[in-house]
Amino acid sequence: MYNKIDVDKIDLNSEPPTDELERQYYFMAKCRKWVNDFKQKNGRFPKACVVNLGCQMNARDSEKLEGILEAVGYQKTASEDADFVIYNTCTVRENANLKVYGRLGQLGKRKEKHPWMKIALCGCMMQEPQVVEKLKKSYRFVDLIFGTHNIYKFAEYLAEILTKEQMVVEIWKDTDRIVENLPVDRKYPFKSGVNIMFGCNNFCSYCIVPYVRGRERSRRPEEILAEVKRLADDGVVEVMLLGQNVNSYGKNLEHPMTFAQLLREVAKVEGIERIRFMTSHPKDLSDELIEVMASEPKVCRHLHLPLQSGSSRILKQMNRRYTKEQYLELVDKLRRAVPDISLTTDIIVGFPGETEEDFQETLDVVRRVRYDSAFTFQYSKRSGTPAAAMENQVPHEEVQRHFDQLLAEVQQIAGEVCRRDEHTVRQVLVESVNEHDASLVSGRMSNNTLVHFPGDASLIGTLQNVYLEESRGFYYMGRLAL
Ligand code: SAH
Ligand code: SF4
Ligand code: F3S
Repeated sequence: MYNKIDVDKIDLNSEPPTDELERQYYFMAKCRKWVNDFKQKNGRFPKACVVNLGCQMNARDSEKLEGILEAVGYQKTASEDADFVIYNTCTVRENANLKVYGRLGQLGKRKEKHPWMKIALCGCMMQEPQVVEKLKKSYRFVDLIFGTHNIYKFAEYLAEILTKEQMVVEIWKDTDRIVENLPVDRKYPFKSGVNIMFGCNNFCSYCIVPYVRGRERSRRPEEILAEVKRLADDGVVEVMLLGQNVNSYGKNLEHPMTFAQLLREVAKVEGIERIRFMTSHPKDLSDELIEVMASEPKVCRHLHLPLQSGSSRILKQMNRRYTKEQYLELVDKLRRAVPDISLTTDIIVGFPGETEEDFQETLDVVRRVRYDSAFTFQYSKRSGTPAAAMENQVPHEEVQRHFDQLLAEVQQIAGEVCRRDEHTVRQVLVESVNEHDASLVSGRMSNNTLVHFPGDASLIGTLQNVYLEESRGFYYMGRLAL
């Protein structure tokens, strides 16, 4: 963890500072005082549970929440049987949204038995006014609600709910602020996500993300590189650069810089052995980026390139700004430049107006590209997006039928594609002891494929050359190569 300011040296008799970073550390000190009093009274430190319900960007935000809770003195727990529970929510599809209400109901019952418990909600779902209204009305036991734009004020809100009884609700519509250098508690010692930008300007017609995450803002390269260097000094060997559309990184900076240039700079950081990034929008994927992927060995041989649909007609309705042909051309270019690249994707089935022919176009792309894996989603209507107002919504039975067909095709192909490295030696970053068999460790190849092989916990976080003995569909069994 990186702390610019020593929380114990802060004078709590002074007024809260106006500088945002100093201000948040001031409130961390306040919370720490509360935590120490709790310890005095109860003979133990309070426990906090952060539940991440969203994408990698949310996961990184959850690490920031945990960083603050740790700095304050809370003990981290995975159990919701805790003194403080926070859900970091997602709202990209309806079912993500519904799950929250179910879980929250359970949590409310727990709080009836443990009235001192504090419950908080944050993340993308909180940016929807109707959600907040519903919570205020029917979930009165919630103590704190905040959104995606003011997450850096978490310490300040926590201080407020710890010392007062009423519900605190603060949601901002947007922000242009990025507050650097708040504490972070990383989930893995050897790999880490690094935000390079926030928000999205693309407004794909089905997607709620631009509405809940706000406009695109890039972090300054100096800040990103300083963070990557700190991570490397701290033992991190793999970084995942995060943004909704990393290919448009740097456009709104005072001194504009391309994503490819940023990658080259990150690759120069000593100690960093692998660089991944997520997500790439096909419309902005430059030749310069392909060149860096081909020439820079630290950049992983994997690209997640969301297709969404194989039908040019639907892509236009989706406002994706590429055609089927342009997508396939891009894939050809990538494969020519980086022959061993592994491609993965996201596909939506049942976008309004999608016909049998449109669906066949999607299947056609899947068969031609032969993805290593694909996340397939049934279209989910998100209120406020242009697609939600489209008239020709596809009946559920048809969506289900296409979805099942697509999934079967994707899995069949992935099973075939993933064997291509059988009987070769590949570098694997060891991530954990195998969950089912403690004599094995599990790790990932540069192209993100999972490998299990005999080994022990001392290998975690190291890069090992592994002979891939046998492909089991989506993963390999291997052994250390001599
Ligand atoms: N920024 C990323 C994706 C973020 S959301 C990108 O542009 O690729 C992750 C995935 O969720 C999307 O790629 C899309 O496939 C899916 N998704 C987004 N909105 C959806 C909706 N309304 N219904 C179903 N799937 C959706
Ligand atoms: Fe959503 Fe499109 Fe932005 Fe991705 S690029 S977050 S799918 S609007
Ligand atoms: Fe991610 Fe879900 Fe928000 S996908 S950006 S957590 S709506």
